[in-house]
Amino acid sequence: MTQPTTNPQEITAGIVGLGLMGCSIATCLLMAGHRVVAVAPLPADLIHAAERIRHHLQKSWEEKLTDRSPDYFFERLQITEDYSSLQPCQLVIECTLEDLEIKKQVYQKIENVIAATAVLVSNTSAIPITILQSCTKFPARFLGLHWAEPSHTTRFLEVICGDQSELHFGEWLYNLSHCWGKEPTLVRKDIRGFITNRLMYSMYREACSLVEKGYATVEDVDRACRNNAGYWMTLVGVFRWMDLTGVPAYHTVMKELLPTLSNQTEVPKLIEDIVKNGGRGVVNGKGFYTYTEEEARLWEETFTEFSYDIRELALKYPADVVQRKIVKNVEAKKSDE
Ligand SMILES: NC(=O)c1ccc[n+]([C@@H]2O[C@H](COP(=O)([O-])OP(=O)(O)OC[C@H]3O[C@@H](n4cnc5c(N)ncnc54)[C@H](O)[C@@H]3O)[C@@H](O)[C@H]2O)c1
Repeated sequence: MTQPTTNPQEITAGIVGLGLMGCSIATCLLMAGHRVVAVAPLPADLIHAAERIRHHLQKSWEEKLTDRSPDYFFERLQITEDYSSLQPCQLVIECTLEDLEIKKQVYQKIENVIAATAVLVSNTSAIPITILQSCTKFPARFLGLHWAEPSHTTRFLEVICGDQSELHFGEWLYNLSHCWGKEPTLVRKDIRGFITNRLMYSMYREACSLVEKGYATVEDVDRACRNNAGYWMTLVGVFRWMDLTGVPAYHTVMKELLPTLSNQTEVPKLIEDIVKNGGRGVVNGKGFYTYTEEEARLWEETFTEFSYDIRELALKYPADVVQRKIVKNVEAKKSDE
């Protein structure tokens, strides 16, 4: 059997849903070499999508993530409300609201037009892929593709198989995503929250618990988190971190500490109250912190600036950084001999 191509130039990609993530995913795929068909499920998307994608492309050009101008990529991008434009796509990424009913309706519209061989994926944050694929005509070629915002600068990507997904599609996406500048993870068996959300939500729960019980303020928890995990997580994951700092200590601490960690199953009151009162975070200035309009804008700008800086650092320290050093040392030894 011939292997499907992993050359982005030969693969037209579709995106349905042009909100925050749909636009940054479109940017990532264009820069990787795909032709992109971007479908706006609601007319409201059309107001912002082109402008947002152009802005991402312009910034990426200025930051030297690409040597091509936004105009070049816009020739390879079609923004439309017409689902039938997805017909030539070998890969379609659904990126609509995190709502099962909406996603179901969208899959019907997509599957009515795409080829039976095309792969359909969802960028869902937390709906199990097994549930989503049960709403499709061809569950074997349905998978999860979980991106991190801003998708055109981050290296994170989870490829998730549902119970009915065929693993070879997961492997194809895994291989292809290296061309998108990702360091992907293949989740071979479906689990709610996949990998990172399970890790992150256990931290969010404990953070809320510490504040609710009066051990620390929101500011203190954030400061501790930034200056501890924030210093090593771009280089190593949790297991290498324990190796680097001595496994037995973790064994000892776990015995005493684990029984005291929060295992609350309801949504913490701290976040419940914010949401009940209409708080959305930086978007409307009301979250765990409050923001003036200027502060909110500057936080968003600073986050974008940081995402380019951290990307540079991350590229300097890829997963195989040590293997690369070993090869370099061997080569240096050979040339000395
Ligand atoms: N924001 C993140 O950081 C992030 C990270 C990972 C995964 N995700 C997931 O990506 C998906 C999209 O998130 P986002 O942040 O881009 O959201 P968003 O709110 O910015 O965009 C949502 C999109 O859904 C579409 N939509 C809204 N109502 C619809 C309807 N009735 N029918 C069809 N389409 C409709 C909108 O047109 C819009 O394009 C969600 O599943 C989310 O969980 C988000």
